[in-house]
Amino acid sequence: MAHNYAKLMFTDAVKHLQEENGSRKSYARTETDEHHNNVFGVKEIQFLINADSFYMASVNENGWPYVQHRGGPKGFVKIVDENVIAFADYAGNKQYISAGNFRTNNQVSLFFMDYRNKRRLKMVGRIQTVDESDINLLNKLEPVGYRARVERGYLVSVLGFDWNCPQHITPRYTREEIQPLIDTLAYYQDDTENAENILNQAG
Ligand SMILES: Cc1cc2nc3c(=O)[nH]c(=O)nc-3n(C[C@H](O)[C@H](O)[C@H](O)COP(=O)(O)O)c2cc1C
Repeated sequence: MAHNYAKLMFTDAVKHLQEENGSRKSYARTETDEHHNNVFGVKEIQFLINADSFYMASVNENGWPYVQHRGGPKGFVKIVDENVIAFADYAGNKQYISAGNFRTNNQVSLFFMDYRNKRRLKMVGRIQTVDESDINLLNKLEPVGYRARVERGYLVSVLGFDWNCPQHITPRYTREEIQPLIDTLAYYQDDTENAENILNQAG
């Protein structure tokens, strides 16, 4: 079996353009790569368990793509199997665009960004909704102590993934990451007692 992500994403039109632009030969090699990129390794799992967000694309009944953001505390993306991930879907604006799209098309694309380290991981798969009928799994997906109402869960069977190069990614840092630095800069010594003593003595 060839590299799954390439197999699924390199359509005839894509291959044609690669041909026209001289990259087809090297990408054809990707398709017969020894790495199938359909089963997570340590690198992918380490990346996913540290994710605090990702972008999720669905396709609607009219063929329009739709992208939304999903987020949560680190660890909200659960590794269920070597190629299956799961996460809780919180109550939002009640538009239900992604949820509605998945009713008619279970194809999904997920895009994970690690802005700090300029890394990105993309994947495609088939998504399955987890509702109250599987309350055990739903409970397992609920992040502990996180203020959000879980409306449903999602299980994604990943068919292929690929890493991208760091090009054009502006490094960004979370509050958690920069807080220790801010704390050092904003160091404030509380000398109220000392100041009051000096004031009393002067008076
Ligand atoms: C009160 C409220 C208002 C929101 N308004 C918007 C909005 O105007 N646009 C948007 O993209 N997300 C908005 N959100 C966030 C979305 O509801 C959330 O991202 C949800 O998961 C979107 O799912 P969907 O786009 O698949 O329907 C809002 C959330 C809440 C709780």
